[in-house]
Amino acid sequence: MDTVPMFEGYQVGYDIPALPGMPESAIQTPCLVVDHDAFFRNLDVLRRFCASHQVRLRPHAKTHRSVDIALHQIQTGGACGVCCQKVSEAEVLAHGGVKDILVSNEVRDPLKLDRLARIPKLGTRIIVCADDPENVDELSEAAQHNGTTIEVLVEIDCGAGRCGATPGREAADLAALIARAPGLVFAGLQAYQGSAQHKKTFEERKSLLDSAVRMVSSTVTELEHRGLRCDIIGGGGTGTYPLEAASGVFNELQCGSYIFMDADYNRVLDPGGKPMGAFDNALFILTSVMSHVKNDRAIVDAGLKVQSVDSGMPVVSGRTDVEYLKCSDEHGVVADPACALKVGDKLRLIPGHCDPTCNVHDWYVVVRNGMVETLWPVSARGRSY
Ligand SMILES: Cc1ncc(COP(=O)(O)O)c(C=O)c1O
Repeated sequence: MDTVPMFEGYQVGYDIPALPGMPESAIQTPCLVVDHDAFFRNLDVLRRFCASHQVRLRPHAKTHRSVDIALHQIQTGGACGVCCQKVSEAEVLAHGGVKDILVSNEVRDPLKLDRLARIPKLGTRIIVCADDPENVDELSEAAQHNGTTIEVLVEIDCGAGRCGATPGREAADLAALIARAPGLVFAGLQAYQGSAQHKKTFEERKSLLDSAVRMVSSTVTELEHRGLRCDIIGGGGTGTYPLEAASGVFNELQCGSYIFMDADYNRVLDPGGKPMGAFDNALFILTSVMSHVKNDRAIVDAGLKVQSVDSGMPVVSGRTDVEYLKCSDEHGVVADPACALKVGDKLRLIPGHCDPTCNVHDWYVVVRNGMVETLWPVSARGRSY
């Protein structure tokens, strides 16, 4: 854990929302709070799961965009490395000391290709996805130009309808091209079924995953015919990881949200129809009541600018008597029928969607037993270009 001197010269409110050693009640709001014990419990749950299912864990850093969290995932959470979506995120993570990074995305812009190809000079293994032959040439040129090696996964579209080559022969042709390209190493397959993750019922998720597994298996068979072997067959998120792990085909899981969870993942159900329950909510938006002029409505200081509501409104943690109804830029409207809240009261909100919520904050305030333990910067905040 960090110690207080790291924050020497920082003033609460002016520079930073809190300082280590403060009580949670003194944190400046609105800001992100990470529940220390829930966070480390979540790390441990997935570490144990992966160990017992003999799959590697390469968690997705797109969720948190934080060097500190990535290093915790590697050092105590059993991760072999991390994923990210952007070259800019990979740069921040590599400079922060992460040694094994998969950019689980296509990189096409010339400057970004060059930046990607430079990352191995930092002593970091870099892996990227490709879904088209022209991109193989671009990656090969960038690697040769920089005198580096880039590992490449063939991304297949296994049902999400996003990026990805057609599974089977087309994907295997691409793999063969990568294997022959100077400066590149064919490293395997990227097969993330993004549209399955948040399906509410287990049956819906399983049916989408069964189909994805068939596509991965047929591609692996094609690759074997050509003598090509996959070091990595990666995919899986917080909604489906047990299915990928049980498939006998995937060997790396890419869960991202598991460290924090969010209100939308809380609504995803297990095979018995109950909330999944494997992971605890560890991320909250701490907010304060700033106005309570109407008896049945409290107005809080967490509005649209501190969260993403694309997956629904945040849920007030630990309370059933009040409900976050709607937001505008800087205001949140909370139904308070019993007039239980008063100005200055603080609420922990479970964000509707964790990833884009984190990206609009500078800091995670890590709280343990009601006290601020440390702060982690959102190191790659806004690094989308
Ligand atoms: C390629 C890829 N892998 C893994 C994940 C992690 O998913 P989750 O946050 O649902 O665990 C994502 C999330 O969008 C993703 O795009």
